[in-house]
Amino acid sequence: MVRTKKAYLLMVSVVMIFIVYVLYHNFVQDPQAAEFLHLKTDLKRTLHVDAWLTVMRIHVVFACLSMVAGAANFSAWIRMKYPKLHRMIGYLYLMCVLIVVVTSGYMAPYATGGKASSMAFNLLNIIWAAFTIVAIVKIKKKQVLSHRKWMTRSYAFVFTNLAIHLLTSLFHGGFGLAYTDSYKIAVYGSIVLLIFLAELVIRIVYKKA
Ligand code: HEM
Repeated sequence: MVRTKKAYLLMVSVVMIFIVYVLYHNFVQDPQAAEFLHLKTDLKRTLHVDAWLTVMRIHVVFACLSMVAGAANFSAWIRMKYPKLHRMIGYLYLMCVLIVVVTSGYMAPYATGGKASSMAFNLLNIIWAAFTIVAIVKIKKKQVLSHRKWMTRSYAFVFTNLAIHLLTSLFHGGFGLAYTDSYKIAVYGSIVLLIFLAELVIRIVYKKA
């Protein structure tokens, strides 16, 4: 129990630090996303920068909100003391996921790495939306344990951007692969990694249930 609480606090800390970094980087340090867009060297279609930036900003804001909402709902204290709040935050999380998925769908055709990355992002869109909807269906059927497991699988995907950047740095900076190839590998790699991590957490946290 104590270990679970410590792991939860660690996760919340990572989420908070990451959110501050993402908001600072995308709204203060590089609001035109010049650094990121500069690396899109092999685009097959014209990128309308203003529209892309607007969509990307909506994407970032709701992505951060989904991280906060999800983290709040894993709190046993909120769940037990304020079940109505838990439900409201749950629907807020679902709405955020759907907005992130729709905005991602707009950006996917322009993804760094071309068609391979676009396909991986679309796969991510389907998986994330599906896992989240399954989690909601489970609680509608009063299957509490199953709901928590599916929400764990869903929440793993709020770490998509972090995982993509870490894996890209590993393959590009660490192994010396070209940036675009590293990015492609990172998008597919993050799907595998996040599904694996979710299953690991489920096995550790819910093993006695
Ligand atoms: C929930 C946490 C997430 C955050 C904080 C986040 C943040 C960002 C940011 C800042 C960008 C701009 C590029 C960059 O700096 O990486 C971006 C791009 C993008 N994100 Fe997300 N994102 C999240 C989750 C997701 C998920 C789950 C998906 C897919 C289902 C997704 C799909 C995309 C796509 C397609 C792009 C454009 C990539 C490109 O142009 O190469 N994001 N995201």
